[in-house]
Amino acid sequence: METPITVVILAAGLGTRMRSKRAKVLHQAGGMPLIEHVAATALALAPPDRVFVVVGNQAEQVETALDGRGVQFIRQAEQRGTGHAVMVCRERLENIPGFLVVLYGDCPLLSAETLRQLIDLEQRSGAAATVITTMLEDPTGYGRVLRDENGCIRAIVEHKAASPEELAVREINSGIYCFRSELLWKHIGEIGTNNPAGEYYLTDIVEILRRNGHAVRPFLLSDPVEVLGINTRAELAAVDRILRERKTRELMLAGVTIEKPETVTIDAQVQIGMDTVIEPFARILGATVIGEDCRIGACSIVRDSRLADRCEVAPFTFVDSSELETGARVGPYARLRMGAHIGAGAQIGNFVEVKKSRVGAKSKSQHLAYLGDAVIGEGVNVGAGTITCNYDGAAKHPTAIRDGAFIGSNSTLVAPVTIGEGSYVGAGSVITEDVPAEALALGRARQVIKEHWARKRKAVKTP
Ligand code: UD1
Ligand code: CA
Repeated sequence: METPITVVILAAGLGTRMRSKRAKVLHQAGGMPLIEHVAATALALAPPDRVFVVVGNQAEQVETALDGRGVQFIRQAEQRGTGHAVMVCRERLENIPGFLVVLYGDCPLLSAETLRQLIDLEQRSGAAATVITTMLEDPTGYGRVLRDENGCIRAIVEHKAASPEELAVREINSGIYCFRSELLWKHIGEIGTNNPAGEYYLTDIVEILRRNGHAVRPFLLSDPVEVLGINTRAELAAVDRILRERKTRELMLAGVTIEKPETVTIDAQVQIGMDTVIEPFARILGATVIGEDCRIGACSIVRDSRLADRCEVAPFTFVDSSELETGARVGPYARLRMGAHIGAGAQIGNFVEVKKSRVGAKSKSQHLAYLGDAVIGEGVNVGAGTITCNYDGAAKHPTAIRDGAFIGSNSTLVAPVTIGEGSYVGAGSVITEDVPAEALALGRARQVIKEHWARKRKAVKTP
């Protein structure tokens, strides 16, 4: 029979060392709040009704960040230490048998695989608890692990409370534990506040369990990377870099070409298909999904967007909350936003902005245009400098350009207006009325020629 696993994630602290108005666990690494990384790992071990997040500072925001994951929340109104954070869970959890895994919300690199090994070790050893430890070159700030003659943990001393000999110990407490629930709840009340910070330290449970005749075992990780805790923004940046490296590596192994991967930023949830090429300094963010055989140009940003196969985003282009159908090409220097939808094989060129508009298959707007609140059919040519005047100062109005229409350069389309199928708009026109299908619309002053005007002007000037 599978032993039931319950996970508690401590995430109530503010994280003073971040020097931030925002709670530490809400800061992002790898494009996701720290707490989301930890929750995702927890959910790989236990169902959502067995994952409990202890919240306090900015509790609502932390709960919102985990919206939709189905996990449980327990409030710690006052943050009186990691031991106290577990104590406030007692009422809800003390009758759940099995193993209790405690995670800290500021430790996002930990893998579910390592936690499975931790639980396995705890189960096989029969100890009261197993603690993940590791050796650090510079253990400053971490709790030090003191072993007894049998290799069990005798005590964990916090940096602030450690003696010079204890400070020399390089084995540190990761803050990740697997407890036998029954023993934890039986003894948790014995944790006191007799330390320089006057806090309830969860780490004191080690000595307490020993005093009551139970062993606590270490699970020493040879690679410390997974248990790096974040306390400062410098540590946040270091962890962010590791997460980015993991992501680009994972994508490269799945068949994506990434040029100069160390310059590329790709968020955790992004999906990219085989044989797509990502050029240097690209940023691919949020819930973006990119198909196969695409190319994302240097210094482009693609956020919360969907690209089908064979799309090209040329350099220095910003694609935000938009959609590209198969073979669409945008940029260089284009901006797509608020649900722009570019049809199959359509082309959007340099300095073209497309906002909340649909551009049909094989249509083109290659240079210097603004297309806002527009529905553009298939095979349309939008000339350089075309502007949809969608805003009258009070409200936004739609423009429709039907299939096969040709909009001459520098046209101004004053919405609401419809340009009929197969019609032409002469260059430089201001169009304020609907254009019927197949018609030619001219909305500009006729050209005037004044013969010999320059010579006459000179004659007037000379006395
Ligand atoms: C803690 C450990 C230390 C370990 C280190 C690993 C204790 C006493 N010390 O120290 O041995 O080496 O983590 O990173 O446990 N939290 C609450 N409520 C509170 C206090 C903290 O929910 O009242 C949460 C924080 O939000 C955070 C986590 O617990 O996610 C750890 O707290 P933090 O203050 O960062 O502990 P450290 O001093 O780093
Ligand atoms: Ca910490």
